Amino acid sequence: MSDSKPLHMSPEEFRRQGHAVVDWIADYYSRIETLPVLSRVPPGEIRANLPKHPPQQGEPFERVFADVERIIMPGITHWQSPNFYAFFPTSTSGPAILGDLLSTGLGVQGMLWSTSPACTELETHVLDWLVPMLGLPEKFLSSSTGGGVIHDTASSASLCALLAARERATQYGSNRKGCDGRLVAYASTQTHSSVEKAVKIAGLGSDNLRAIEVDQNFALRTDALARQIDADKKAGLVPCFVCATLGTTSSNAIDPVREIGRLCRENNLWLHVDSAMSGTAALCPEFRFLHDGVEFADSYCFNPHKWMLTNFDCDCFYVADRKHLIQTLSVLPEYLRNQATESGAVIDYRDWQIPLGRRFRSLKLWFVIRHYGIEGLQQHVREHVRIAQQFADWVRDDSRFELAAPVLLNLICFRLRSGDDENQKLMECLNQSGSLYLTHTKLDGKFTLRLCVGQTNTKSRHVERAWQLIQQTAAQLDKS
Ligand SMILES: Cc1ncc(COP(=O)(O)O)c(C=O)c1O
Repeated sequence: MSDSKPLHMSPEEFRRQGHAVVDWIADYYSRIETLPVLSRVPPGEIRANLPKHPPQQGEPFERVFADVERIIMPGITHWQSPNFYAFFPTSTSGPAILGDLLSTGLGVQGMLWSTSPACTELETHVLDWLVPMLGLPEKFLSSSTGGGVIHDTASSASLCALLAARERATQYGSNRKGCDGRLVAYASTQTHSSVEKAVKIAGLGSDNLRAIEVDQNFALRTDALARQIDADKKAGLVPCFVCATLGTTSSNAIDPVREIGRLCRENNLWLHVDSAMSGTAALCPEFRFLHDGVEFADSYCFNPHKWMLTNFDCDCFYVADRKHLIQTLSVLPEYLRNQATESGAVIDYRDWQIPLGRRFRSLKLWFVIRHYGIEGLQQHVREHVRIAQQFADWVRDDSRFELAAPVLLNLICFRLRSGDDENQKLMECLNQSGSLYLTHTKLDGKFTLRLCVGQTNTKSRHVERAWQLIQQTAAQLDKS
């Protein structure tokens, strides 16, 4: 580095470049609908365009940033396109992006209350706000026995719930001695794969995860769960954990949490409720049926980064009794000791998660809730559900298609009646067109298309156009 060029970006240069980046993002959102939703690059193309070696000397920011457009953008799948209907969304919004930018700018690491009191206290406060907003039980409030914490993902939340369940079931013995192979976890065949991953990581062993059968609506069958728990107990095993899902990934099925909860109480099992995407719907009283029975849960999570306009990553994880989680995860080396922790008057969120360090994620959530207000967020959810229901009606009215699962909220699972090959071809043609992006699942063994209405800017007109394109493409394939 020559003497003439300062090593660091000065505040003035940061301001100038920062304005350019924000302008670029604003322009990106203005032109996003003109871009093919699914990236078209073949494997390896992005890397082939990158220099083999890092630069020996620093480069001007303008040159670096120009490469975003040239090299990076062709390899972007536009999750923020209103024509993105794949998987579940990761919706963002202006206030969320600005909140995240501010969090990055402050560069705070909030592992302990004392390492930035505002980072902890804002998080506690916003998570308390969400309890009545979503009609969740009061035991999840920080003023009660429980409390909420922001994790990166629902996968981390499931893992932490399982770890706490494991320790509760073994009186904290497995933390000291490891697992003895007798602990058993339960989830439906439709449960997200993150639970299987958690069972592996937590040392229960994937053979000790029971995949419980589902009913005709793809919801967990409580009678099958009860039978399996009994059988495991008779075999000398120790049932310890059930994951119920409110809005499964494949078809948005709703597990009967109240019945499952009663069974868990009778058998002293930890009940974790995963409502990663659909939890957001409970903002609206008319969709709060979703949370029926959640008062039985020992833990619960939902992802504002899916449908609540808060960019990735942001999972809100609640426990009914924080002492299990803290006792499971707390380790206190000398270098983290401090007066505030020792006073017992503060929360140290490092004890509520796997990593030590943590970002100031609550800023973006706070910005989102304040920008939209409860009514704005409700309006957003209602409109998406309305549009999705309209789409479902169009599917019902076209005899070539069928709905493959009930459409409760914003996910439509549908397929051509003609068979798997036709459906796969239809999906590939649609995605190659660049006009939209949707993904598939298998329901009742059949290839099924999933269309999820959840991206921030998806409006009626986008979904209308998507349906026209689906119909036209199906007709063309039929002719060929
Ligand atoms: C029901 C459910 N649980 C968990 C997950 C995993 O989400 P995350 O990426 O937050 O770990 C998903 C992802 O779509 C999901 O749908």
